[in-house]
Amino acid sequence: MSYLLALDQGTSSSRSIVFNHDGEIVATAQQEFPQVFPQPGWVEHDPREIWNSQLQTCRQALAQAGLGSAQISALGIANQRETTVVWNRRSGQPIYNAIVWQDRRTDAICAELRAQGLADPIRRKTGLILDPYFSATKLRWILDSVPGARVQAERGELAFGTIDSWLAWNLSGGRLHVTDVTNASRTMLFNIHDGCWDPELLHWLHIPPQLLPEVRPSSHLYGETEPQLLGQSVLIGGIGGDQQAALFGQACFDKGMAKNTYGTGCFMLLHTGDECVASQNGLISTAVCQADAGEARQYALEGSVFVGGAVVQWLRDGLKAIRHSADIEALAASVPDAGGVLFVPAFTGLGAPYWEPAAQGAIVGLTRGSTVAHIARAALESIAFQSSALLMAMAKDATADSVAPITELRVDGGAAANNLLLQFQADLLGIAVIRPQITETTALGAAYLAGLAVGVYRDCQQLTDQWRVERVFEPSISRDRASALMYNWETAIDRVRPR
Ligand code: G3P
Repeated sequence: MSYLLALDQGTSSSRSIVFNHDGEIVATAQQEFPQVFPQPGWVEHDPREIWNSQLQTCRQALAQAGLGSAQISALGIANQRETTVVWNRRSGQPIYNAIVWQDRRTDAICAELRAQGLADPIRRKTGLILDPYFSATKLRWILDSVPGARVQAERGELAFGTIDSWLAWNLSGGRLHVTDVTNASRTMLFNIHDGCWDPELLHWLHIPPQLLPEVRPSSHLYGETEPQLLGQSVLIGGIGGDQQAALFGQACFDKGMAKNTYGTGCFMLLHTGDECVASQNGLISTAVCQADAGEARQYALEGSVFVGGAVVQWLRDGLKAIRHSADIEALAASVPDAGGVLFVPAFTGLGAPYWEPAAQGAIVGLTRGSTVAHIARAALESIAFQSSALLMAMAKDATADSVAPITELRVDGGAAANNLLLQFQADLLGIAVIRPQITETTALGAAYLAGLAVGVYRDCQQLTDQWRVERVFEPSISRDRASALMYNWETAIDRVRPR
């Protein structure tokens, strides 16, 4: 039996999962690490905490599985995307904390670029909306703010990377400075049509090219780990941004296939094949995992909901309406519907397809008869409403570009365990919502990428054959009723838009 080790480095925790050849979970280890909020709107991580917590979970998962590193055919990395690290090539030490994807400090840099008329050219090259979300302006901020950084960067003494690069560097004892196409496509420095770092983007963003990692396919023999880290060296065979890794783990390999990951936020990706669809409906275009060097470039449309499962945390920690997150399903199910209550959890503005950074959250439609159960139900429904708005935007783009209609949605992530949520999602969308047996799809995707690189798997067809459905949620309300519900939701959205 061959085993694969997946490193799933997320925004709030580092996880490692050992999978067997059949894609079944053998062992899991997880460690949270501190979030650093130096100022309102700023979010940082200590890169050393990221590395140490990741390494420890690798060791714990192997120990729990009762396996030595010699029994691991390869490891794969899936990571929080866009988060930016700069380190000294000689010492291996970061010169500043990692600036996290959620960080908004570079709003002013984005405004400056917009004023120079660069939003459209940047969008055409990268598929991205000019926003602090992506790495480029974070990297520029570090070079402009850390004393001496720009001079050192120009001398080639510093390295930039997203979290995958940082982990690969540390795993290899500083021998690898690499990334894959999916992570590169989130930096806003990578031309997704040509598949390379773009000199004009680097010039507009004032980024010295000496900083950049080499870009490789997502499934690739990158190198091996330092022997003493895990007992013996292990091959590094896969790297993918977590959401693209999840698309891969869901076996969404073909045009028209879509997945939604219900985590703290929700990330929905629709595979558009070799066509890079430019959204007319507030979505971004992004590279999907490249299974081998010979494969043609493939793309997805992506939309993100900033507050998805986080609304349940707010009910638990902010409103103290439930003790445990899992309690929400029973509370919400204790009423037949939300009783006209609508909850717009725009705690950090609204992401795609609305892009309203200044919107604030609201609970509307309260009456004398509203109870905490109605609010809980409305909170749960808000996750499905926001995801539906994304899928509808995708469907419009897909129809305009003659991508096949979306006929089913594959789901994963923590909140995908909630049956009430998934049933409501199917009702709103009018398509089947499918939960696979393994919902650790991000990690599974990383393991698959690594497994393909070392020949544990023959091809993607084998992974498709291995993908198993656990439950299908079919729509159970009329399309008229679903449209009326969506109409009410959009009315609530209008109420939270800044006037
Ligand atoms: O784009 C950000 C995304 O990759 C973060 O994912 O799972 O760490 O919240 P997650």
